[in-house]
Formats: sequence, structure tokens, C-alpha cells
Amino acid sequence: MSDQATITLDPAFVVGPVQRRTFGTFVEHLGRCVYSGIHDPGHSTADADGFRGDVVDLVKELGISTVRYPGGNFVSGYRWEDAIGPVESRPRRLDLAWHSTEPNLVGVDEFMRWVAKAGVEPMMAINLGTRGVQEALDILEYCNMPTGTYWADKRAENGHPEPYKIRLWCLGNEMDGPWQTGHKTPEEYGRVAAETARAMRQMDPDIELVACGSSGSGMDTFGSWEHTVLSECYEVVDHVSAHAYYAEHDGDLASFLASAVDMDHFVSSVVATADAVRAAGKHTKRIMISFDEWNVWYQDRAESQPPEGDDWPVAPVLLEDKYSVADAVVVGGLLISLLRNSDRVQAASLAQLVNVIAPIMTEPGGRVWKQTTFYPFALTSQNAKGEVLRLAVDSPKHETKKYGEVDTLDAVATHDKETGEVTIFAINRSAENALSLDVALHAFGDLAVTEAVTYANDDPYWQASVEDPDSVLPQENTSVALADGKLTVELPAVSWSMIKLAQA
Ligand code: AHR
Repeated sequence: MSDQATITLDPAFVVGPVQRRTFGTFVEHLGRCVYSGIHDPGHSTADADGFRGDVVDLVKELGISTVRYPGGNFVSGYRWEDAIGPVESRPRRLDLAWHSTEPNLVGVDEFMRWVAKAGVEPMMAINLGTRGVQEALDILEYCNMPTGTYWADKRAENGHPEPYKIRLWCLGNEMDGPWQTGHKTPEEYGRVAAETARAMRQMDPDIELVACGSSGSGMDTFGSWEHTVLSECYEVVDHVSAHAYYAEHDGDLASFLASAVDMDHFVSSVVATADAVRAAGKHTKRIMISFDEWNVWYQDRAESQPPEGDDWPVAPVLLEDKYSVADAVVVGGLLISLLRNSDRVQAASLAQLVNVIAPIMTEPGGRVWKQTTFYPFALTSQNAKGEVLRLAVDSPKHETKKYGEVDTLDAVATHDKETGEVTIFAINRSAENALSLDVALHAFGDLAVTEAVTYANDDPYWQASVEDPDSVLPQENTSVALADGKLTVELPAVSWSMIKLAQA
């Protein structure tokens, strides 16, 4: 049985430009993300810095823009200057966030060389948990100032005379979370964020700053946190962060597939709060959202439990979730939500990039492989171009335990005025039924379908593994047809699809 949905597209209905920073990711000193992830000096493809070439190749194929670094919870106890200079004299430190030992083999200079190799933009997070204004100024001087003063000269001594000129900086991480080292009340954090931001701007007025928002829409302080924090620091920051992780609980696939309902709610609530602070403070600029941690993450599984007691390992296996086809459909749906909201979500980071809740997995010294979530991310990043369109959607609805009645279809489209290309991204959130989709494209003139792919499987719980990474891949969708400006296509249950059209 198949339900019927319709969407109408018009090039005049524009949300805003596709923001390349929507396709950012995250590299934290956590588990095997850095060590034996991006960095594995013994690997056959490693460069002089120890960075794996096979991983960089997949990072390029994934099509990412920014990479947030070095945490995450890790950053709230991090001393960045431990990890500069000769590697053999760097201290080993306890990492309280992940009950691990940080060997400091990779630091800001190595990361910036990896960034250049991977062709991505860095997004640097600073420690506002155990540290404050002075240490933020020190790392900013080290990274962004010309030589002639102490920290900038240290960078030159370490082989980098030219400033890195990092634009994007996160003012701490998840400071609303009681688990965070140096957790603060919104008043305390708002003051520290404002003081740090002001001082950093005195040194480098070209930077863009992200204040910590909520680490989930389920936090008791969600909404009031943003209100208090932004009331303190509105004028000196550019973005407020949002973090959200989703998982299927108790076999409730229907709610899980509708996870983007929560992401949409998260965005609209933070936009409303930021705009209320704007009105009350008589500000003119608007604060944007940096959705700088989002993904599917099964936090209750054994692989997410940090070591305990006297065990403080280097790069333990942690948060190495294996993803299913259904997980990939949810990731595709969350990207649809981020694009739909791209007038206010101007940066985002899939958390994380390698091994840790990641689209790319590695064996230490061995193979690299793609998780299911790699495909919707790579295809969306490679093909969303030009402007995001506002869709008129008429979808059947179904009940979910968590979100009540939801649209079965979720979709977004982009239009590249220069090439005339139109690209539709759609998921069928039904766990049982296929969906027939009609798309009215009359406003675009004469179009032809150039590509139609669907990612789905009879068993939505199929997972890729190092032994079998690719027996389920995105497939050509042969049901697609276009006549008289109307496109029709069948979307299987639990599926993600991309349909591309160009001027005929
Ligand atoms: O991405 C994993 C962790 O999730 C990050 O360290 C933290 O910021 C969030 O709680």
C-alpha cells in the first residue's frame, strides 16, 4: 500500500542561500577520533605528521566545510599550550571528561596542517570550564596575530611564521550541562562569555564568536539559558550554539524517524528567544544558530561508557556506534531540517568525523570504511547548491508516541540559478508504507531528471561493517518520471532520496 504526498516548488519562494558551513563536522580528543582515527603514524598512508591519507580522501568525498576542534567536553579541561613545540617534551595529562590519558601528540599546529591537507575551515573551541579570558587571549594570539609578541613568536618558533587567521571560535562547550568540567549558571557563563568575547575582539575584530546555547531541547534550562546568556553577551557574539542527539528508544522507530520535528522545534525556540533579547535590548543585528553538535547517538549502549577507576587509557574505544540504514535516514532528515532553517542556522557540525559516532571508521593501522550515515551526508553536501527553497507540502500524516501527529514526508529543495539545477531531498518517515510523491515543477520551465537515488533496505536495521561496508548502497530510483512539469516518484518505507533536475 502506498500513501500520496505532493510538493510544489517555485524559484521565487526562497529561504536563503545554502550555507556551506551547514556541512561542518567535529574532531574531538575523544576515544579514537584523533589517535588511530585521523592520526596514525604507523599507517601505510600516513604523511610526515602521521595523518592518514586514506582518511583524508574520505573526508574530501564527504564534502565537509568546517571542522570543530578540540572538543566537546574535552576542551573544558584542556591546556592548549601542552600540545605545542617538540612532541617529545609534551606532558601527558588526565582527561577528566572521558576518563582517559591525553598524550598531546596532536595539538593546534598539527591540526592546522591537517586542516590544510583536508581543505576544510577550522572552528576552534576554547576552554571556559577551568580557564578564562587570559588563556583565550593567549591561544588567539598564538593562532591569529603577526609575529612580534610572545605567543605569536612561539608559533613562528614552532614552524608557522604566518598567522593561521582562524575566524570561527566557540566560547566554551555545553556550559549548561552539569557533566561539564567548570559547569556554570547562565548568569555566570553569560558574564564570562561576554568578557572573553570583548577581549578577543579587542585583539582580533575579524573573528566570529559562538556562545554556548543548550546541550539539548530536553534540558530544564532550555530557553531560559539562551535568554540569560544572550542578555549578557548579545552585542559581542555572532552565533549561539545548539546541540542535539537522537536515538531509537524501546523499538519506537516511528518517533525516531521523526527526529527532525525536535530539531525544527529547537531552532524555532532559539530564534524566538534570540529575537526577544534583540527587541528588549534594542539591538539591530540578528544572532544566528551554530548547530555545532548533532547526530544519532545511542548513549545508553556499552560503547558510550567511559573507563572507570584506575583505568585512564590513551584513545580507548569509545562512542563507536555502528549505524543502520534507519539511522542514515534520520541523519538525512536532520540535514533536511538544517537546510530548511538555513536563514538562521548558518553553521552546523555533524558530531563527530572519525570513529566516534562517526560516518568514517578506521582499523588502527588497517582499513578505513564508510558507515551508512556517510551517504546522505555526502550526497546532500555535494548537491545542495544555490538557494534553499520554501516548499508547499501536502503530506499524509501518522501518529508517533513522542511527537504526536507528524507529516510522513519530509523534504527540502535547492535551486542553483546559475546552472538551473533543482535538487530535491526527501525522506519517507513511515516505518511500514511506501509513499508516492508528486512534485509540481511548472514554475521552472522545461526540466529533465538527471539523477534519482534512494537509500533504503528491506531490513532497515542493516548496518555496514568493516567486513561488509557496501552491500547496501544508494541505488538509482527507477520509478521517477517527469511529464508536463509534474514529477512522480515512489519512496519506499524508511528511505532517504535525492532527485536532481536540470534545464532540458
Ligand atoms: O560528541 C560527544 C559529546 O557530546 C561532546 O564531547 C559533548 O559536547 C556532547 O555532550
